[in-house]
Amino acid sequence: MQIRDETTGDHGAIAALITLAFREAPHRDGNEAALVGRLRDSDALILSLVAEVAGQIIGHIAASPCGIGGQSGFALIAPVSVLPGFQGKRVGSGLMEAALGRLRDAGYPGAALVGDPGYYGRFGFASRDGLGCAGIPPDYVLSRGLTGSAPAGLLGLHPAFTA
Ligand SMILES: CC(C)(COP(=O)(O)OP(=O)(O)OC[C@H]1O[C@@H](n2cnc3c(N)ncnc32)[C@H](O)[C@@H]1OP(=O)(O)O)[C@@H](O)C(=O)NCCC(=O)NCCS
Repeated sequence: MQIRDETTGDHGAIAALITLAFREAPHRDGNEAALVGRLRDSDALILSLVAEVAGQIIGHIAASPCGIGGQSGFALIAPVSVLPGFQGKRVGSGLMEAALGRLRDAGYPGAALVGDPGYYGRFGFASRDGLGCAGIPPDYVLSRGLTGSAPAGLLGLHPAFTA
């Protein structure tokens, strides 16, 4: 499996993959693929990595800029998608570890995401006192430190999330 940056030619395959991955997901809004398109169109993708096997894109992870507690400069990781036939084979783990490495190397002090603590806890993400996001149960709002300590406060997402 190769993990690499997306290229222009990948955009359609990424959208199809995200749609398929979230079709059966317990927490979905059906707009995950469109969200990545809006972030890309807004030049707000800090990273967009694909996992590829034998020329097929089987996984994807994206990150965008976010504020936490009124302070800018953090990264919000979303969405993470693995093609249904390839789930449970560590593709998501590989993408997450690659993304965290990239963000740390780029100097991001910390990252946040909205997701299942039972899954994301293994990557160092946890709920924190004061960490929250409007409309989301606090147990599902998670952060971890990268070059700094784990951030807490209200998340300020890129406008593409509410478009
Ligand atoms: C969630 C997702 C990205 C995980 O990717 P994956 O490649 O299937 O996960 P991995 O193989 O790296 O999983 C590693 C471990 O996490 C566990 N795990 C996977 N998905 C999980 C979930 N939703 N909740 C709890 N644990 C989970 C696996 O069982 C595995 O456990 P183990 O280490 O004890 O064997 C993928 O299943 C997916 O695309 N799901 C649909 C879309 C989605 O829900 N995305 C996340 C919301 S942003």
